[in-house]
Amino acid sequence: MSIETKNIIVEKVKTSKIDQVDFDNLAFGSVFTDHMVVCTFKNGEWETPTIMPYQPITLDPSSKIFHYGQSIFEGMKAYKDKDNDIYLFRPLDNFKRLNISAERMCIPQIPEEYFMNSLTTLLQLDKEFIPTKEGSSLYIRPFMFASGNGFHASPANEYKFIIACAPSGAYFSGKVKVLIEEKYSRSANGGVGFAKTGGNYAGQFYPTQLAVAKGYNQVIWTDDSTHEFIEEAGAMNIFIRINDTLITGPTSDRILDGITRKSILEIAKDQGIKTEVRKITVKEVIEAAENGSLKEMFGAGTAAVISPISSFGFRETDYDLPEIENSFNQRLKKIITDIQYNKSEDKFGWRY
Ligand code: COI
Repeated sequence: MSIETKNIIVEKVKTSKIDQVDFDNLAFGSVFTDHMVVCTFKNGEWETPTIMPYQPITLDPSSKIFHYGQSIFEGMKAYKDKDNDIYLFRPLDNFKRLNISAERMCIPQIPEEYFMNSLTTLLQLDKEFIPTKEGSSLYIRPFMFASGNGFHASPANEYKFIIACAPSGAYFSGKVKVLIEEKYSRSANGGVGFAKTGGNYAGQFYPTQLAVAKGYNQVIWTDDSTHEFIEEAGAMNIFIRINDTLITGPTSDRILDGITRKSILEIAKDQGIKTEVRKITVKEVIEAAENGSLKEMFGAGTAAVISPISSFGFRETDYDLPEIENSFNQRLKKIITDIQYNKSEDKFGWRY
């Protein structure tokens, strides 16, 4: 049976899969909730969004997503507090960034009410899937792709907007070791590095596989023209603490405008931590590691939250980060997650 509510068609599952979820052993993004949102763009407009049982979708083999990679996504999380109330963190920023990515990839923009109404209705339906265990949350993946068909290399005339959700634990398990990459590049000026488009991630798999074979978990990208400057890690933005200053690279054509990144910058300033948004060279980081002024490196992202880096490799040498008490990364992580899980006052107005 389907019912229409707030311009959304809702088709509920007959039997929930909730009993199959092992909430004590959640991996990242590998089990899914009962429902998903599907909305089709056709004949120049978005149709009424439908919430339906989570299921495979059927596509024509010539759909342009398969051939030309016209696809974008977002990463968000829903959190439950001790009273089982549900919160999102800065969701309108994800909505805006999705449409920035859409513009770059020639995908039609989704209206705010379609995004927010279908998301909040989906979360109400699947709220039992939002984990309560410390460090766990419901990872939300809104995405859009070219479902229209034809081998002509041009934008499609049909698209799907889908939201799927996965109760998830931590993205990284254990220590994070990174390799500073000098040969391969993630993005270039004028390219699509700032957009959350699938190819940005697929293009990293091969260099990351080579790094994993050497014992690292992630690659830190450097700029494509000189390879002198630290950029981002692909799945997260990078912060570097030298003495008592927290530094991160400026966003650009090549670096994603991370929502966790900009939140950390605001929290750090509010905490009286000196921050610098500027280009940082690999040379500066190596020198700081050698003279002891490099105190911390960490990644920041929705999936990664704040993930401390225990060591980094550069040209066959590994540099270990010191273990320090009351580190910036621990302090900042506590503040941001307390806001997300409604454990503290939200002076920034980020909780939704
Ligand atoms: C996120 O942090 O939500 C992302 O989209 C990164 C992805 C590689 C998991």
